Amino acid sequence: MLVHAFLSIALATLIKKSVGKITASIGEVNQTYDFVIVGGGTAGLVIANRLTEEDFTVLVLEAGGEHSQDINIAIPFFCQQASPFTEYDWNYTTVPQSNLENRQLIYPRGFLLGGSSSINYMAYTRASKEDWDLFATETGDEGWSWDAIQKYIYKNEKLTQPADHRNTTGEVNPAIHGHHGVNKDSLPGFINSFDNMVIQVSNELPELFPYNSDPNSPVNLGLGWFLGTMFNGSRSSSATSYLAPKFASRQNLDVLIGARVTRILPSPNSTDQRPNFSVVEFLHDGMNQRVTASKEIILSAGSVNTPAILLHSGIGDASELLAMNITPIVNASSVGKNLTDHPIVANSWLVNSTETFDEFTRNATKISELVEEWNNSRTGPLVDAPARQLAWLRLPDIDPAEDPSAGPNSAHLELVISNGLIGTVPAENNFMEISGAVVTPTSRGTVTINSTNPLDPPLINPNFLDTEFDKNAMRSAVLAARKFATAPVFSDYIISSTTNSTTDAEIDAYIQSVAGSLFHPVSTAKMSPTNAEYGVVNPDLKVKGVTGLRIIDASVLPHIPAAHTQVAVYLFAERGSDLIKESW
Ligand SMILES: Cc1cc2nc3c(=O)[nH]c(=O)nc-3n(C[C@H](O)[C@H](O)[C@H](O)COP(=O)(O)OP(=O)(O)OC[C@H]3O[C@@H](n4cnc5c(N)ncnc54)[C@H](O)[C@@H]3O)c2cc1C
Ligand SMILES: *[C@@H]1O[C@H](CO)[C@@H](O)[C@H](O)[C@H]1NC(C)=O
Ligand SMILES: *[C@@H]1O[C@H](CO)[C@@H](O)[C@H](O)[C@H]1NC(C)=O
Ligand SMILES: *[C@@H]1O[C@H](CO)[C@@H](O)[C@H](O)[C@H]1NC(C)=O
Ligand SMILES: *[C@@H]1O[C@H](CO)[C@@H](O)[C@H](O)[C@H]1NC(C)=O
Ligand SMILES: *[C@@H]1O[C@H](CO)[C@@H](O)[C@H](O)[C@H]1NC(C)=O
Ligand SMILES: *[C@@H]1O[C@H](CO)[C@@H](O)[C@H](O)[C@H]1NC(C)=O
Ligand SMILES: *[C@@H]1O[C@H](CO)[C@@H](O)[C@H](O)[C@H]1NC(C)=O
Ligand SMILES: *[C@@H]1O[C@H](CO)[C@@H](O)[C@H](O)[C@H]1NC(C)=O
Ligand SMILES: *[C@@H]1O[C@H](CO)[C@@H](O)[C@H](O)[C@H]1NC(C)=O
Ligand SMILES: *[C@@H]1O[C@H](CO)[C@@H](O)[C@H](O)[C@H]1NC(C)=O
Ligand SMILES: *[C@@H]1O[C@H](CO)[C@@H](O)[C@H](O)[C@H]1NC(C)=O
Ligand SMILES: *[C@@H]1O[C@H](CO)[C@@H](O)[C@H](O)[C@H]1NC(C)=O
Repeated sequence: MLVHAFLSIALATLIKKSVGKITASIGEVNQTYDFVIVGGGTAGLVIANRLTEEDFTVLVLEAGGEHSQDINIAIPFFCQQASPFTEYDWNYTTVPQSNLENRQLIYPRGFLLGGSSSINYMAYTRASKEDWDLFATETGDEGWSWDAIQKYIYKNEKLTQPADHRNTTGEVNPAIHGHHGVNKDSLPGFINSFDNMVIQVSNELPELFPYNSDPNSPVNLGLGWFLGTMFNGSRSSSATSYLAPKFASRQNLDVLIGARVTRILPSPNSTDQRPNFSVVEFLHDGMNQRVTASKEIILSAGSVNTPAILLHSGIGDASELLAMNITPIVNASSVGKNLTDHPIVANSWLVNSTETFDEFTRNATKISELVEEWNNSRTGPLVDAPARQLAWLRLPDIDPAEDPSAGPNSAHLELVISNGLIGTVPAENNFMEISGAVVTPTSRGTVTINSTNPLDPPLINPNFLDTEFDKNAMRSAVLAARKFATAPVFSDYIISSTTNSTTDAEIDAYIQSVAGSLFHPVSTAKMSPTNAEYGVVNPDLKVKGVTGLRIIDASVLPHIPAAHTQVAVYLFAERGSDLIKESW
């Protein structure tokens, strides 16, 4: 009986696997699909899921592999070990940053199913209503406004209980969250006295750091709890959610891993004046392969690789392409321009405590005990991301004419608060870390290529702190973090600062020596109104000047939101899927 039951389950799995599947074998892939999605990342897997709800055939080409169950991917706290320079990373660095002592910064990008949603730090932040309404104004499409995207919030989000199942009243407002969506999120599930101290700051310094009982409401300002894309103590990525087995087994979906797309090509069979992109060229097991999309190619390779693939395919600034000996097919001069990203600076304090996570990040014995606890019951400190609270702040005294924020209820700065050092930890002592970020940067950078070989890394230049506004705002962020640490609740807790810069010049020097990226690059294939002189895609995500090609990923965002970027990507992908369905 038992043996039979097992056999039939195994057979059922086998039969399912032979039709709809995640495969590493090119022999299981067809010549033609309705849609070919380039990149099985955050956006790509949403689109694969939604299109295969209908009677369309879909192929996803993903360069990386399937790693959702690896502990450095599944355990939230181990997000720090998922990148950089690991098997899950594209291993990029930036070009030397001229305003940051010419340092080349790490620039991780997920190289696995789920893309960067599989390696990110999981913050679920929607951005303010004003940010979304600005997307609508910038594109001339009300469909991108806050009110219009609400239905996509509900399709995407499933709010779940934190791993400790505590009463979360006052920490999140369930009334404004999705409870039936695909992608799960939750509040932190392991809290201690440090969390109470952090929240206490909102009582002690209420003008500067007012408590926000749900920063995902239309107004994101203030100090509040970190909501994360986590469920039952594990990471929720687009791979665990939108490509969960019940979706991956659909007969009209194929997902090929280890497939590195090099170029996209126009079809000789266009019925239109414009080039009709329908062939995807990729490298798999060292062999060049091609597949045809009879309806559309969807580029979802992310803010770095999407512009790189476009440029290698002859879609870019014509004179720059000619200079590289690439034949221009479309003179799309905005490709790779307008790269915008959030700069961040870590600040830390020595504290009188043994309850920080430094205590276990440097203790291999303790870590293995905690992994065992996580394995057995999905409890303990590993169930959380390193941050459990965030604060969103406005710059005081900003001249409205110079204000780069989306509106008076949107942040310029963010503080990320953690009960220990993120990254390398010294052998002794305990710390509190408050990183400050500029979330309305005005510097603009580029993604370019300097080789005709699509396998060479693109040149990434976020051009951090290139404007006076950004330099001043970054200093304000450091000062805000220090102000936070002056709250009376920390007076017997903090022993000393780990830095002693005081003058503006000293603080600026500190910033230049430590600032990095919050890893939120956007706008390298910017969306703009249909008749705009600039921009790469129209408000329906179709690439200007061609047929058969859309881009759906972080690269199309019309501006950088005052938020971590994954939720915006999920929502652009949800609406993008609806726009594709409407076309066909
Ligand atoms: C370390 C880190 C921490 C972050 N923390 C947060 C956070 O806490 N909260 C938050 O909201 N956001 C965070 N972000 C940002 C967020 O994760 C990204 O904005 C978002 O995931 C981008 O989605 P995407 O679909 O544009 O690209 P990705 O999710 O990166 O997907 C691109 C996919 O395309 C694949 N691909 C690329 N090139 C090719 C090719 N040539 N052939 C085939 N496949 C290819 C990639 O392997 C990848 O799977 C973080 C990002 C990083 C890197
Ligand atoms: C990044 O480096 C790691 C470690 O060397 C490697 O395993 C991985 O394949 C590299 N990523 C890419 C995209 O080459
Ligand atoms: C949770 O706490 C709130 C306020 O502290 C209380 O009103 C509510 O009844 C509690 N809920 C449960 C399920 O205990
Ligand atoms: C691939 O082709 C086979 C044979 O024509 C067909 O049965 C199958 O449905 C196709 N798969 C997909 C995902 O389109
Ligand atoms: C173009 O049309 C020809 C003839 O119908 C067909 O054989 C070929 O596969 C088509 N090419 C592409 C890329 O669709
Ligand atoms: C573009 O090419 C594809 C694949 O050959 C074909 O199915 C489609 O009809 C073409 N579209 C246009 C607008 O020519
Ligand atoms: C490409 O477009 C840009 C602006 O959109 C224009 O300045 C440039 O002259 C064009 N180049 C060619 C070769 O057409
Ligand atoms: C960058 O974006 C701005 C604002 O949307 C736009 O005016 C400008 O033309 C863009 N630059 C390029 C090179 O596309
Ligand atoms: C740390 O706190 C203890 C009391 O809990 C106190 O005795 C000790 O002096 C403090 N150490 C420092 C360095 O402040
Ligand atoms: C490391 O953790 C183990 C197990 O919890 C503990 O016994 C040991 O004292 C710790 N070592 C240090 C140096 O704190
Ligand atoms: C959460 O994880 C635990 C431990 O693996 C498991 O026993 C439990 O069923 C999971 N709960 C849910 C709701 O998935
Ligand atoms: C391209 O840029 C990389 C990184 O900056 C550099 O190592 C390489 O020499 C450049 N190649 C060319 C052909 O300029
Ligand atoms: C504090 O300043 C002194 C003198 O400028 C310097 O030598 C020391 O390294 C600084 N300490 C820290 C922690 O930055």
